[in-house]
This record gives sequence, C-alpha cells and structure tokens, in this order.
Amino acid sequence: MDDASHIVAVDEVPTDSTLLVTLREGFDEKEVVLVRQDDDVVAWRNYCPHWTDVRLDKGSGAEFRDEELVCTRHGAIFEADSGECSHGPCEGAYLEAVDVAVEGGEVYLTDDDYEFDHIGPKSDRDLSSGRIGFGGN
Ligand code: FES
Repeated sequence: MDDASHIVAVDEVPTDSTLLVTLREGFDEKEVVLVRQDDDVVAWRNYCPHWTDVRLDKGSGAEFRDEELVCTRHGAIFEADSGECSHGPCEGAYLEAVDVAVEGGEVYLTDDDYEFDHIGPKSDRDLSSGRIGFGGN
C-alpha cells in the first residue's frame, strides 16, 4: 500500500450510508461508493444496474435500510457486502465491484483499473440537476 492508493480512513466511511469518491480510469472519472462493513470497507461503482444513468449516491450518501443499499428511483435493494440485488426490478443483478483493501485502519485502492482522484462527486457533474453530465457513468 502506498500514498497514491490511499483513499480515506475507515472511520470516515459512514456506518449507515456511503462515502462517494471519484476514481480515474485513463482520462475518465468514475464515481464509486465506499460501504462500511464493521472494520472493513467494500466499494461499488455508483450506478444502478436497472438504469445505469441513475446514481445510488447523489452526493450526500446513498439510502440504507436494514444495512442494505437502496436505489431510491424504483426501490431496488442491494446486499451491501455482495452487491447483489435482493429485491426490485433488477433482482439477481450485481453492483459493479471495485477492489479496495483496509490496512491499519485506512482504505486503499487495490484495483489496477483505476487511480484514486478525490473524495466527492465527479467534477463534470451538474449537481443542481442530479443528472449525469456528458461523461457517462
Ligand atoms: S433505476 Fe434503480 S431501481 Fe430502477
């Protein structure tokens, strides 16, 4: 683990919501939600498999119910640890995983497809509308 792959301290990841971060894949920015699992953290790309232009976390944390992630658009429910949709219009589908690891209470990006960019939403988003900009997911 090195400084370049460091994302955030585990304690900064909420236990009842998500922390939105932006990674870089080549020239593209990709949003990812970090999900706390006790002292561990998992990471999912920030879109719903039902409608891929719908973000789970619109910038202030995704909805959680009974420790499951909820897409508020049509009510799909995702198991926070596996990313599987357990109920809703995309039942059986999975959130797209991004590899992260926890070491010494810190979260590191371990997925070779991405580089960590910043905490928070993509920079090309129009946050006033809550819709995705021209860059796609
Ligand atoms: S867009 Fe997420 S449940 Fe339909």
